[in-house]
Amino acid sequence: MPVETIRWKNGKIRYVDQTQLPTRLKFVECGDIKRFWKAIRNLEVRGAPALGIAGALGVILGMQHSRAKNFRSFIKELGRVIRFLASSRPTARNLFWALERMEETAMENRSRPIGVIKEILLEEARRIIEEDKSACREMARHGASLVRKRDAILTHCNAGGLATADYGTALGVLFEAKKQGKRIKVYADETRPLLQGARLTAWELMHEGIDTTLICDNMAASLMAKGRIDKIFVGADRIASNGDAANKIGTYNIAVLARYHKIPFYVVAPASTFDFSLKTGKDIPIEERSAGEVRTVLGRIEIAPKNVKVYNPAFDVTPNELIAAIVTEKGIFRKPYGRSLRGVKGK
Ligand code: MRU
Repeated sequence: MPVETIRWKNGKIRYVDQTQLPTRLKFVECGDIKRFWKAIRNLEVRGAPALGIAGALGVILGMQHSRAKNFRSFIKELGRVIRFLASSRPTARNLFWALERMEETAMENRSRPIGVIKEILLEEARRIIEEDKSACREMARHGASLVRKRDAILTHCNAGGLATADYGTALGVLFEAKKQGKRIKVYADETRPLLQGARLTAWELMHEGIDTTLICDNMAASLMAKGRIDKIFVGADRIASNGDAANKIGTYNIAVLARYHKIPFYVVAPASTFDFSLKTGKDIPIEERSAGEVRTVLGRIEIAPKNVKVYNPAFDVTPNELIAAIVTEKGIFRKPYGRSLRGVKGK
């Protein structure tokens, strides 16, 4: 992958500001939790697994200068930091998964001195990053077995290195297929309104030397009708126990189109994206974002009447019956998901 998306550096979080890509590769060093909350909210840091890492590092940022003298006040303060970070974006399970994991780690070490707990929390955040890297490689390895030599593949939003600590989820599969010598062609949906496909996915794919074609979201159907798409690979932000999967708005459209055109639709996501407390996707919280994102192009060009009403959900849910398989670091899972996905649970 072209850059290191996010890491801890000398008491600060260093991340690529994804809102500036592809025109500018800008690294930000952030030492203030309120500023970091905004970075998450504004999509400077984005993508489900990267949001998990952001949550873990956000806890370190928020707690590093804690003056708590005993565990009781330390855990109270930690709870406040966690609730604050959790309020940034609601959909990606990975954010909450990482925050819960950090809190559990603190609880497990409650008898230790506060200074030691802080060190253990930093180690835990670093472990989350390392685990994400190896999950990316494993998902890529499993997923690449689904790709044929000359497949034309459609992807939506950005499920690449920028959305993870390493290789990406759906894009990791494509990078691995390319490494295996498969001469794939990839179509990237631009992904309105925030253009993650055009700005980030096209950038990452081209950096890896993959034959890349950018399309507007409303062009996918015509490509499929012409027989020019063999497979679809997308990421996910939250997957319910029955396999219903939330991902960037517009993913569901593609899944419906794929069913009509008999094209396999694959979801690629690590175990940290699964929410086994939810029976179905109906209960997945869907983020709604500001009207300005739709009324303008990236806040720069006005394309609609100033006060026109806007509906701007950031995600939609693809029902499990439209998903040919879910690729995780633990293998490839198929229907019936209610049963098969039990294999994703646990360590
Ligand atoms: O709003 P975003 O850019 O954070 O949404 C990201 C997506 O929907 C990705 O497709 C998803 O997180 C999978 S990332 C590996």
